[in-house]
Amino acid sequence: MDVIQAINTRRAYRSLAPAPITEEVVRDLARCAQLAPTCNNNQPARFVFVWEPAMLEKMKSVFSKGNAWCRADSMVVAVCAEKEADCLIKDREYYLFDTGMQTAFLILRATELGLVAHPIAGYNPELVRDVLGYRRRCR
Ligand SMILES: Cc1cc2nc3c(=O)[nH]c(=O)nc-3n(C[C@H](O)[C@H](O)[C@H](O)COP(=O)(O)O)c2cc1C
Repeated sequence: MDVIQAINTRRAYRSLAPAPITEEVVRDLARCAQLAPTCNNNQPARFVFVWEPAMLEKMKSVFSKGNAWCRADSMVVAVCAEKEADCLIKDREYYLFDTGMQTAFLILRATELGLVAHPIAGYNPELVRDVLGYRRRCR
């Protein structure tokens, strides 16, 4: 699949079938996110890949009501970023832009691998932090 095919194929589908997630897939996705352009190559995003069944089960509590369909997922990727991890030039905070770039690369590669990668903002960030034991800010 070339880039234009991945862009045309990607959709935020809500009907999810089980997908075969392996460590190889996780490393592949992480590497693609790492290769995205970021200010000074800071790579501000931290991706927490949750695919181990017991942890995935715990993550079911974090979704908003409207995102109940997420409970059929095979993996959750929590995307975390802090503004101090990236360029801060006058009033320009680069981290959200760069995190978006990294996430888009991950999503397109997931599409190429035949996966559905659906971004969501409908979750409870406090619960995410609790479940993951992640103490830094998660946006
Ligand atoms: C930052 C962000 C947050 C989103 N949050 C949700 C969400 O909470 N629930 C949901 O079903 N879709 C969510 N979406 C998916 C969008 O609704 C979807 O991408 C958009 O309608 C375009 O559809 P398409 O991705 O299939 O082209 C989100 C997308 C983005 C980029």
